[in-house]
Amino acid sequence: MDLLRDVNIDPAPLAGKRVAILGYGNQGRAQALNLKDSGVDVVVGLRGGSGSRIEAEAAGLETALIEDAVSSADVVMMLAPDEAHSAIYGEIEPNLREGAALGFSHGLSIRFGFIEPRADLDVFLIAPKGPGTALRSLYREGKGMIGLWAVERDATGNARGIALAYGRAIGCGRAGLIASSFAEEAEADLFNEQAVVWGGVPELLIAGFETLVAGGISPEVAYLECVGELHLIAELIEARGIAGMREAISNTAELGALLGGKRIVDAGLKVRMTEILAEVRAGRFADELRSEEASGYSRLEKAREDARKTPIEQTYRSLKD
Ligand SMILES: NC(=O)c1ccc[n+]([C@@H]2O[C@H](COP(=O)([O-])OP(=O)(O)OC[C@H]3O[C@@H](n4cnc5c(N)ncnc54)[C@H](OP(=O)(O)O)[C@@H]3O)[C@@H](O)[C@H]2O)c1
Repeated sequence: MDLLRDVNIDPAPLAGKRVAILGYGNQGRAQALNLKDSGVDVVVGLRGGSGSRIEAEAAGLETALIEDAVSSADVVMMLAPDEAHSAIYGEIEPNLREGAALGFSHGLSIRFGFIEPRADLDVFLIAPKGPGTALRSLYREGKGMIGLWAVERDATGNARGIALAYGRAIGCGRAGLIASSFAEEAEADLFNEQAVVWGGVPELLIAGFETLVAGGISPEVAYLECVGELHLIAELIEARGIAGMREAISNTAELGALLGGKRIVDAGLKVRMTEILAEVRAGRFADELRSEEASGYSRLEKAREDARKTPIEQTYRSLKD
């Protein structure tokens, strides 16, 4: 594995360069502030009337309209939501300097053709493997978040150096930067979102909660068992790995997991996972994301509303209040 840390990365390719961060959301805020604290010249590019302008300026950042930020920058980092990238790129292409570097924190819009960058541009990926809030808090603690890096196009001969110097400046080099590609990062990330941590795990928790409640267990006890312990296993796996986690729990829990785990996660699961991976690779999810945006996010809004009314959510609130 090719894992690079600060000591292996030359910060010089960013020296004297100006970076435009497009978007001041989860990643944009964290990356802009980390860059600034690393001594990089940063401007945050925002659309007209953006509610984020006051917040970014209060944090000591320079802001500008997206097109002005882009035309002033050597490196442009696309940190608006993925489904907006195509429209934003269409607007900024004339403002991008000849030979500028265009960066992403997710491989989706390049892998699935939302954007086809102009031929003179360097195109790189620095994808921190976690939310911007943690990227920022880790940086402030003197730590960093592991990330993936890739170069899709090296038009100037400087793309690798700029990508790695950028990853170092946002703090990823403190934990490690792993070489990847836009395709690998996008496919693995979209697969995980659907099949494992963000798609599979919550459905497993809900199914367990509903099974216990249907079996006469009180919702509060069902919630504490099926959902409340999630952070414990996450912390143990983070600290000791999966085998170490199993050795750390009681014999009762370990034997229960051994007997029950494979009955729940049976061979059919990998068949369905393989289907999801094939669909991701065929661009089916990318199409869904674009049509979701085109519909004004109606499916997501409905799902959010429905989720707030479920028994598991009401139990969560009753335990929190
Ligand atoms: N969220 C994460 O933790 C995470 C982790 C790894 C990688 N990523 C990647 O990082 C990128 C950014 O994701 P994010 O979650 O940070 O995004 P986000 O929080 O949803 O981004 C919000 C920002 O984007 C701006 N924006 C939204 N639509 C826009 C448009 N049509 N034109 C111009 N600006 C627009 C918003 O502008 P206003 O201020 O005007 O509302 C706001 O400043 C994505 O490629 C994502 O896949 C995210």
